[in-house]
Amino acid sequence: MTSTAMAFKNPIIIAPAMNDGMWENKILQDNLMRLKNAGYIIIEPEEGFLACGTNGKGRLADLNKIYDKAVEILDAKPVGILSGKKILVTAGGTKEKIDPVRYITNNSSGKMGLAIADYAYSKGAEVTLVSTFEVEKPYKVLTAKSAKEMFETLKTVDFDTVFMTAAVGDFKVKNISSQKIKKTDGNGLNIELEQNPDILKYLSDNKKEEQTIVGFCAESENLLENAKEKIVKKGCDYLVANDISRKDIGFDSDENEVYILDKELNITKFDKDKKVNIAKKIVDFIWQN
Ligand code: CTP
Repeated sequence: MTSTAMAFKNPIIIAPAMNDGMWENKILQDNLMRLKNAGYIIIEPEEGFLACGTNGKGRLADLNKIYDKAVEILDAKPVGILSGKKILVTAGGTKEKIDPVRYITNNSSGKMGLAIADYAYSKGAEVTLVSTFEVEKPYKVLTAKSAKEMFETLKTVDFDTVFMTAAVGDFKVKNISSQKIKKTDGNGLNIELEQNPDILKYLSDNKKEEQTIVGFCAESENLLENAKEKIVKKGCDYLVANDISRKDIGFDSDENEVYILDKELNITKFDKDKKVNIAKKIVDFIWQN
């Protein structure tokens, strides 16, 4: 049975039943903890009369409890190494209104953020995605179009790790026109812009001890030099950098090639691969470090 369990790729519930002395055994408890950490679901035994004639904790849990847990797992979320972790992911390019019909945005497709959120969810994390576009997912999705909306939304979410994959616009329109701006013959249009808050810097400056802040940067030149400067400037724990001057990776592409920098400026490269695979490698890397 243990060989079968080893090869089985879906959630496994363990409902132990034994003598109370066995249950309290330190090695057994350590082994249960290892199983829990590996994503197994343990339904603890109950107190009561035991087969060996004593009273104590060791009776098989109520069958309804085991059944309910199985139903919950089959209907609800997956279980895995990220169970119990709150992961916040931002995705997409922010939109800054000019007037009721026009806005300033960027080329971000949001694919990388979605791939990270999907993978974290598949590993059991409690995922919140804050995206600039509407999308249906089995995890929580909050929509925030502008940088300011994203900033306000993020402040309301509790998280252990944040992946700031969204391409947040640095500028917003100072005076958004409530009416559609009309052209006047031969004249151009001046739009005054002002800076948006730097969300990543804010999250890094205000982070709790146990939180991990992961920034992303897309550079069109001097990738690693700029990334090194940026991680210092933003103060995040990790920065994932990719080169947008290359046509075969990054914006709007299904593939990417990235470097991850940490605070000590150590660099790890993930060679060109599908975004879904790069997303897995990024999440696993952050999780294991
Ligand atoms: N970011 C942010 N708030 C902003 C701008 C960017 O939180 N106002 C985040 C992005 O989500 C990303 C990281 O900062 O995780 C780096 O974004 P990037 O656009 O490369 O950096 P900028 O701060 O905009 O720097 P610059 O445009 O000067 O290169």
